Amino acid sequence: MILVTGGAGYIGSHVNKELNKQGYETVVLDNLSYGHDDFVKWGTLERVDLSNTREIRRVFQDYAFEAVLHFAAFTYVGESVENPQKYYLNNLRNTLNLLEVMLEFEVKKLVFSSTCATYGDPIEIPITEEHPQTPINPYGRGKLMMEQILRDYSQAYGLRYASLRYFNAAGADPDGEVGEMHNPETHLIPLILDAALGKREAIKIFGTDYPTEDGTCIRDYIHVTDLADAHIKALKYLENRGESDVFNLGNGNGFSVREVIEEARKVTGREIKAIETDRRPGDPPILVGSSEKAREILKWQPRFYDLSQIISTAWKWHENLKKRDKGT
Ligand SMILES: NC(=O)c1ccc[n+]([C@@H]2O[C@H](COP(=O)([O-])OP(=O)(O)OC[C@H]3O[C@@H](n4cnc5c(N)ncnc54)[C@H](O)[C@@H]3O)[C@@H](O)[C@H]2O)c1
Repeated sequence: MILVTGGAGYIGSHVNKELNKQGYETVVLDNLSYGHDDFVKWGTLERVDLSNTREIRRVFQDYAFEAVLHFAAFTYVGESVENPQKYYLNNLRNTLNLLEVMLEFEVKKLVFSSTCATYGDPIEIPITEEHPQTPINPYGRGKLMMEQILRDYSQAYGLRYASLRYFNAAGADPDGEVGEMHNPETHLIPLILDAALGKREAIKIFGTDYPTEDGTCIRDYIHVTDLADAHIKALKYLENRGESDVFNLGNGNGFSVREVIEEARKVTGREIKAIETDRRPGDPPILVGSSEKAREILKWQPRFYDLSQIISTAWKWHENLKKRDKGT
């Protein structure tokens, strides 16, 4: 039995689906603060908040877990600057609660959702796992602290973990069963698709004078189904006695904001109005990761690296959502 915390959220629900497809049994632990109960189509949902150690303990008593995949966290970078306490309490303290119970029950395999935000402003592209980690916001700092704590726990208590540093998760389950539904939404592709659907008037381009070919920021988009596959491979790596380690998960291929908008116009056949505005503080021009290590050690091979595939799967999901909103 595998515990998936945050499995009612965007990435966790895709991983939960893949785990079940591959024959694992799962329990999803989620407080539904940002998750959706109808995303838990596989396994059992335990509606529990990780601030409640007694309830976590109860869940560990009810099921015999072999490993934990820990997605539950708050994820808004801007909000973490305005309200760091909210982030440190949930992403650090509540993760420590989870680790406390894992150790009590001798569950010693963990796949942890880390982030490229632990690197801060890049000094070298593509970013490898050896790149200095100097995060520039509380969200990234909290995730980095967790990585460091995991290293200590690994040495002291024999916990074995894989910290997966995702770049920008994007796209949706190609079968359309789960997808991205953040509220508020801050990610570029769903915002563009909302503009395509007329849910918002236009998409804003923040900065057109960056030192990139078309002047807009370049990011690394990794399809959520490829992320799901990487989690299964990381779990198997730990099952096969792999040592604690960190892995970047990215596409290795950057796309500019303008390229993403242009591709979305092609995929959707809609106009999609774009408004050019000033740069936002704290946006580095280019963030592209190297995932060579995950390819070599985990034998991970992204399948949806093409921007049109990423946008098409997200578009299919968005159109279905719109139909659902309308009750058609
Ligand atoms: N989306 C990305 O591009 C991205 C990139 C890098 C890292 N990550 C990390 O991946 C993980 C998943 O991100 P996501 O985009 O799926 O976010 P999400 O908000 O869709 O999912 C997070 C889930 O955790 C749950 N949760 C939060 N706090 C909880 C608590 N105290 N107790 C129980 N459940 C709780 C929420 O209800 C939600 O269902 C996060 O840890 C995030 O930091 C995401």
